[in-house]
Amino acid sequence: MATVAEPRRAARPEIRQTQLFIDGQWTPARSGKTFETINPATEEVIAQVAEGDAADVEAAVLAARKAFDDGPWPRMDARERGRIMMRLADLIEAEIDELAALEALDNGKPVSDARLGDIPLAISVLRYYAGWADKIQGQTIPINGNFFCYTRKEPVGVAGQIIPWNFPILMVSWKWGPALAAGCTIVMKPAEQTPLTCLRLARLAQEAGVPDGVINVVPGFGPTAGAAIVKHPGIDKVAFTGSGETAQVIMRQAADQLKRLTFELGGKSPNIVFADADLDAAAAGAHVGIYLNQGQCCCAGSRLFVEDKIHGEFVERVVADSKARRVGDPFDPATQQGPQVDRAQYDKIMGYIEAGQKEGATLATGGGRVGEKGFFIEPTVFTNVADEMAIAREEIFGPVLSVLKFSDMDELIRRANATNFGLAAAVWTRDVAKAHQTAKRLRAGTVWVNCYDVFDAAAPFGGFKQSGFGRELGEKGLDPYLEHKTVTVSLD
Ligand code: NAI
Ligand code: MG
Repeated sequence: MATVAEPRRAARPEIRQTQLFIDGQWTPARSGKTFETINPATEEVIAQVAEGDAADVEAAVLAARKAFDDGPWPRMDARERGRIMMRLADLIEAEIDELAALEALDNGKPVSDARLGDIPLAISVLRYYAGWADKIQGQTIPINGNFFCYTRKEPVGVAGQIIPWNFPILMVSWKWGPALAAGCTIVMKPAEQTPLTCLRLARLAQEAGVPDGVINVVPGFGPTAGAAIVKHPGIDKVAFTGSGETAQVIMRQAADQLKRLTFELGGKSPNIVFADADLDAAAAGAHVGIYLNQGQCCCAGSRLFVEDKIHGEFVERVVADSKARRVGDPFDPATQQGPQVDRAQYDKIMGYIEAGQKEGATLATGGGRVGEKGFFIEPTVFTNVADEMAIAREEIFGPVLSVLKFSDMDELIRRANATNFGLAAAVWTRDVAKAHQTAKRLRAGTVWVNCYDVFDAAAPFGGFKQSGFGRELGEKGLDPYLEHKTVTVSLD
């Protein structure tokens, strides 16, 4: 009898980099301290990682400053800068399986998500910005009088980059790509939950030929290492992705030095299904929109607005798809959903599930833990959700969907926009005019029509309102790493 081969479980990756990366050297923290990073699927400790603080940030900023003020990176042939970035992308591609496994181990995301989603996009982002390196140019401007006027775009300087744990490799590429292309140097702090792949990428950057001091990585905690980056006068610009609360702290602390800031923050994105939509596609989009990455997406479609005429039928599909979602071992290639990243996130999400029930929403499916070990949560759907409930207003950042009913277009737009967030939105309809009208009226930085979570290196991404400022990706994403200089020359 023929046997069917078991799908191969991804191999456990080797942990090679656990120290700080400063000026091209691997070093322990000056304090000697380390912290644990855990595997959220098993709650076991993976590794001890050097815990950087202000003293280490000081060293990292010195290195980045020297590399920016006197080093080759901002001065070299821009095409060569692009070539080094291309090499980094190639090295990531060559190690993609191992990197995907390392990401799955530290973050808990399914290895196939990292292998087929996060890392290919990270590679694409680095290649895209490598292509920009030699295309950053100014203008000549005809001004009044006998003058020659031109503009130059110059790197902003040393960039402090603070990233979260939900897409560790991808966030590195979004931050390093434009900064490196512009000729900036970098002090990065990865999230304390997921430091391992960022450190691995620093090793690959060195191998690709990025000069010492251009990229420095200081793992550690927010109030110590993170705050030291924000406050250091040697840092010209801070790019941050994470929570709105932390962004407020950063903004206050950066105010003294009027530091340049870009923020990519949270969301409570409306995913709108009109009755005339292709309901198969819309149901698939509702599923991906909320559950991708265990629901730990800033752009998660966490408010599903369904037109009343199809509400019952559509909810049935969404619930059935949720029940069928495969939750389990991130290293099994068939797994669709792994654990939440840590206990804090698990507890926060469970708190919202409790709040939803207390406030009177109907728990249509899910709501519980999966297994006894690891931070796994069932795909969860609430119906009969009212706009004022916490589960309809606040970012849950987990696999919890709130379904809301609507009947009228103007009412829908008002409710969809009645939020302090404005990161993303989606519309499902076969009516072209309705699609564009809705896209225009939604106050969000990204609107998807008949699709969800479509990202491309060339398409800018970022928030309206309290979802952030500045844009990442695309030509727009370069701008925060550039200063614009106007030079006026008398021709008399
Ligand atoms: P967080 O915003 O506190 O952490 C993000 C990064 O900021 C980490 O690297 C952290 O160490 C750093 N950080 C924390 N405090 C800092 C400070 N005072 N100065 C400088 N850096 C600091 O987010 P956290 O606590 O991990 O998650 C809380 C909630 O934030 C989540 O439940 C979710 O709602 C939201 N979040 C949103 C993300 C997004 O992609 N927009 C990503 C991660 C979290
Ligand atoms: Mg971890």
